[in-house]
Amino acid sequence: MAKTHVIVQNKMKLQEINTNCLPQHLAIIMDGNGRWAKQKGLLRAVGHENGTRSVKVTVESCAKLGIKNLTLYAFSTENWNRPKIEVDTLMKLLVSSLKKEIKTLQDNNIKLNAIGNLTNLPNSVQRELHEVIDKTAENTRMTLTLALSYGAREELLQAVKKITHKVKNNIISEEAIDESIINQHLYTHNLPDVDLVIRTSGEHRISNFLLWQIAYAEFYFTDILWPDFSEDHLYEAIISYQKRERRFGKTSEQIIP
Ligand code: FPP
Repeated sequence: MAKTHVIVQNKMKLQEINTNCLPQHLAIIMDGNGRWAKQKGLLRAVGHENGTRSVKVTVESCAKLGIKNLTLYAFSTENWNRPKIEVDTLMKLLVSSLKKEIKTLQDNNIKLNAIGNLTNLPNSVQRELHEVIDKTAENTRMTLTLALSYGAREELLQAVKKITHKVKNNIISEEAIDESIINQHLYTHNLPDVDLVIRTSGEHRISNFLLWQIAYAEFYFTDILWPDFSEDHLYEAIISYQKRERRFGKTSEQIIP
């Protein structure tokens, strides 16, 4: 497809988006790097490398649109079970992307955040991550959260343990435990609930991602493999989201006066 045609198509899609009605929190399960590489007879590592291009495009496009919170599932607790060579490649890619993209984050006024069992990450990743988090801490346009060594069950488990500890030590009473107390003990305590989850690569599952936070989220599944995910695909997902009727348990009549 000619480049000018793609740009025109992008612009048309962009015009269809109501920027007053964007998801406040968009979460993406970036899937299909391995299959993308296999289809092209390339190494899985090349798939991940090309996945980082889609990360950059998506982050910049979300900031440009006005999305306030973007969370990317970059590495799950289960991903530690992949071959060591692939885990090492992903960790190296993370370090190099963080080093390279700090400028993009600063130029776009984006704050970096990370959730997950971060102490399990190699020191090099932890160091780079904390450096970029510190340097971008005052940025206000969008919060980009990377889910790294993240598992929702583990997140819930550590929240239960922290709350139990506080109850035992009379810091909070058992009666005071409510949804907001649970929220405050999740890795995502500073983020709103997820409004839209996008998963690429044709898989229709949630894979231990933000189980508490997606209680009322809309889902958008696409067959596009993550390295092929473009600005245009992001717009399509947002347009689909904006056509949904979010009832939060109410009837249509109650929400449309
Ligand atoms: C899923 O594809 C993707 C991952 C497990 C890792 C996502 C990582 C990146 C996009 C690159 C680095 C990230 C950042 C934030 C710079 P898969 O390997 O499961 O693909 P498959 O299902 O086709 O095998």
